Amino acid sequence: MTKYIGILTAGGDSPGLNAAIRGVGKAAVGHYGMHLIGFRDGFRGLMENRTAPLEGGQLSGILTLGGTILGTSRDKPHKMSVGGKMRDMTDAIVSNYHDHRLDCLVCLGGGGTQKNALRLKEAGLNVVTLPKTIDNDVAMTDITFGFDTALGIATEAVDRLHSTAHSHHRIIVVEIMGHRAGWLALGAGIAGGADVILVPEIPYDVDSVATAIKRRSRGGKPFSIVAVAEGAISVQEHQARLAALESKKGRKVKDIEVEEPEIVYADRTIKLAQQLEQMTGLEARVTILGHLQRGGAPSAADRILSTRLGTATADLINEGRYGVMVAARGESTEAVLLEDVAGKVKTVPVDHPWVESARRVGTNFGD
Ligand code: F6P
Repeated sequence: MTKYIGILTAGGDSPGLNAAIRGVGKAAVGHYGMHLIGFRDGFRGLMENRTAPLEGGQLSGILTLGGTILGTSRDKPHKMSVGGKMRDMTDAIVSNYHDHRLDCLVCLGGGGTQKNALRLKEAGLNVVTLPKTIDNDVAMTDITFGFDTALGIATEAVDRLHSTAHSHHRIIVVEIMGHRAGWLALGAGIAGGADVILVPEIPYDVDSVATAIKRRSRGGKPFSIVAVAEGAISVQEHQARLAALESKKGRKVKDIEVEEPEIVYADRTIKLAQQLEQMTGLEARVTILGHLQRGGAPSAADRILSTRLGTATADLINEGRYGVMVAARGESTEAVLLEDVAGKVKTVPVDHPWVESARRVGTNFGD
């Protein structure tokens, strides 16, 4: 029996989304003879029944395109703003799924999307997800698509900041995305030779950072690059959060992930630069890379990864295996139960080989 598949992209956009849509679509339609329909702007498009045809040549010429041809949004099925009110729209989504006679819904997204997909699985839909995000923080997969491209962009930025920091004898604090995980800052910091790398997983002491910068200065290098993850926090902030959590009866420290307030972009980074300027006597400047890191064409590695994950998705649907995320595992792929992915965040282990290696070359982590 011919299978009918719906596909959507949700959460922040990421290089490689179009390559993944193409991978799913060409394998599903071209290889297996299935039917494919797109939904616009994530779960909202599915709820509002806004579709995009994908069988009339739309899959051609998109491998190298950044963004997503389907559009995306951060809407959640169970909490969607409709008519100015937050409403649970799961029933509308389930009903549209059945109206289209879908056999499976493919959701391309990061951590939030995995949770939303699990909710739809629990509501009775067949779903398969792919791990997408520049943050590389989705659990149970070696890597997410988008990460390699963003890593390249952030690394190039650190390279460029080096020459201007060197020329002006300045500290340049560069804020790198990554949400609550430090993969992007860590990777770009190592690849770009940052002198200091601050990640959320290792709360920093500003004295330690200032001391490292002053030591470099005394050694004849009166400039430094500080690569700071947007989610990095100081030791004091970390302790305050733990204390606040522990004071709440019945709550456990491990709940910190869900309890943390929203990241205030840039504020903390600007404050850090001001502190370092005062403490070292060197001029400091701030560069916020922001959404630059998500834009543009995917790298070759991301095009390959997205294509691999996309075609593996079509294989699974052909086998009738649903309720899973298609994870990257070495050179291969693996179907992982959504229950094992949803609600988990893959942060940087503090003793990760990248961290150890960076320490060996003299990088300061603010600890
Ligand atoms: O998850 C990807 C990401 O780019 C994070 O690194 C960042 O914190 C967030 O999205 C930014 O979200 P928005 O695009 O909604 O501003």
